[in-house]
Amino acid sequence: MLETDLLPVKQRPSVAYTEATRAVEEDEEIRRMTEAELIEGINRLRKERHAVILAHNYQIPVIQDLADFVGDSLELSRQAAQTDAEVIVFCGVHFMAETAAILCPDKKVLIPDPEAGCSLAASVTAEQVRRWKEKHPDAIVVAYINTTAEVKAEVDYCCTSANAVKVVQALPPDREILFLPDMFLGAYVQRVTGRRMYLWPGECHVHAGIRPEDIQGLFERYPDADLLLHPECGCISQCMFALAEGELPADRTFIYSTSGMIRHVRNSSAPTHLVATEVGILHRMRKEAPHKQFVPVKEDAICEYMKTITLPKVYRALRDMVYEVRVPEDITQRARQAIERMLAIV
Ligand code: 13P
Ligand code: SF4
Repeated sequence: MLETDLLPVKQRPSVAYTEATRAVEEDEEIRRMTEAELIEGINRLRKERHAVILAHNYQIPVIQDLADFVGDSLELSRQAAQTDAEVIVFCGVHFMAETAAILCPDKKVLIPDPEAGCSLAASVTAEQVRRWKEKHPDAIVVAYINTTAEVKAEVDYCCTSANAVKVVQALPPDREILFLPDMFLGAYVQRVTGRRMYLWPGECHVHAGIRPEDIQGLFERYPDADLLLHPECGCISQCMFALAEGELPADRTFIYSTSGMIRHVRNSSAPTHLVATEVGILHRMRKEAPHKQFVPVKEDAICEYMKTITLPKVYRALRDMVYEVRVPEDITQRARQAIERMLAIV
């Protein structure tokens, strides 16, 4: 059930020209450096600083290639929680770096561009969650990891696209569930678990743009392909309906988090994969399975927030130890509880 009366939803933040972009453009040393020199500098500095570089699957190729670890939101949270490095350079969007800061309060977490936001995380505020809870005082609140630390502090459980179904299945069956902020992921989880859920009407502009018409006719054009869908996609409800009706082949249609997709391409025998998510992941897929063909379902599914992280900014992050992501202590305590409850389930 979609709840819309607590809107308006916050504006999508712009990253047209960020403060970090300006800083690297005006930096004499960085301006003179070639790509090879930047990489060499990053490699030297990461040793000196005892730093680890974590990168999301949507990062630009050069960042994925130099990262110590590339993964989805869940894997990156786990890596952050486990690392013994003193500094974490988080190449991803702000809520991901915040999650690392919440899980590792004794480490320095740096994000090369703090304006790397997320349209989905921006679609709900802590105040809106408080008002929503007042309307449903007995409900359990589950938040997708794509939320700010303040929002996480208001909820009972976190989940990621890799574990949302498991988290909801673990909740007492007699309780109502408020799920936020992604309505497409929420609708998918509702359908798989059969649980009664209220859904926040938020969306990621990149995935919401992947529509049912983008899927139509794909299997006719690529008869030997597997279709990989991210559950944030705007076509997810129709795809699940089509699967139930037998209009999409159940043995060749798969719904995954980004790293679930990576595992699939590694292990499947299909020569072609149709990929319905942000296109940055294709770089990793081609590296993992160079002999296979990967076709983006929507070529312009590009997250401008993920792409604000660049080589000069990573170099500057390590050189100047900027920008540190800090979460206030009381928010950290409450948000960590919701994340740790999730990690205990999966
Ligand atoms: P994953 O956890 O599947 O990597 O998704 C994160 C995200 O931001 C999707 O757009
Ligand atoms: Fe947020 Fe969408 Fe970008 Fe993922 S792809 S970081 S959900 S805006």
